[in-house]
Amino acid sequence: MGFLDGKQALVTGGSRGIGLAIASALIEEGAEVAICGRDPEQLRRSASVLGARALTFACDVARDEQVAAMFDQVARRFGGLDILVNNAGVGLSAGVADTTPEQWRTVIETNLCGPFYCSRLAIPLMKKRGGGYIINISSLAGKNAFAGGAAYNASKFGLNGFSEALMLDVRYDKIRVSYVMPGSVETEFGMGVKASASDWKLQSVDVAEQVLALLRLPQRALASRVEMRPLLPPRK
Ligand SMILES: NC(=O)c1ccc[n+]([C@@H]2O[C@H](COP(=O)([O-])OP(=O)(O)OC[C@H]3O[C@@H](n4cnc5c(N)ncnc54)[C@H](OP(=O)(O)O)[C@@H]3O)[C@@H](O)[C@H]2O)c1
Repeated sequence: MGFLDGKQALVTGGSRGIGLAIASALIEEGAEVAICGRDPEQLRRSASVLGARALTFACDVARDEQVAAMFDQVARRFGGLDILVNNAGVGLSAGVADTTPEQWRTVIETNLCGPFYCSRLAIPLMKKRGGGYIINISSLAGKNAFAGGAAYNASKFGLNGFSEALMLDVRYDKIRVSYVMPGSVETEFGMGVKASASDWKLQSVDVAEQVLALLRLPQRALASRVEMRPLLPPRK
């Protein structure tokens, strides 16, 4: 059916937006895919879109005990894991003085702790398969700071550093690690500001295509960091 026949994947935040597009692309290429999100109703809707080769888990990746419970189920159902896409993320646009500790924790715990909780449990499952691929969905906000972006920037700058160290940790286990840094993508992703006219933006499927392109590279090759941006953003 596709180049991912027989492979098994987990996509966090796979119930909407970029994660749903990635899950769908992996399934189209033959993989069996588990997705997670916090909203069970949204998960049910996505499951009906994704079809029989999708599994859903209600899991908040910011909660390590929920991640552990999900990985127990993944291990039981899959027996191992070939691909992990750490995609779940939340945005925030607020100046530091206006950011509450709770908002700060939510952004950091979701965008940075979540990928750590998932990756540490994915590694032994990938070793069982003789290797694997971890792809972290970061952002251009992981290298370009913006006013009001302190929490989000910190989470994505941190995710980039985490991804690079993780890559060095696991490369000799034949586990590849890449991080993708998209610019603006047309989704429901909220930064706490009203969305503007957006036909110039990247689409979720563009990020999914990039994920497939990484997975298609020969096993010996690793594109560890990918920046992608809309070609024609509004001129400044
Ligand atoms: N959209 C952009 O312009 C853009 C640009 C660059 C990078 N990104 C990154 O791309 C990723 C996906 O963004 P998106 O635009 O697709 O956002 P989205 O449309 O808001 O979707 C976010 C997904 O993540 C899930 N999620 C959020 N918090 C979660 C948590 N704590 N635990 C588990 N699942 C959680 C959501 O489901 P629930 O709400 O039900 O949990 C949903 O499935 C994020 O990491 C974001 O930072 C987005």
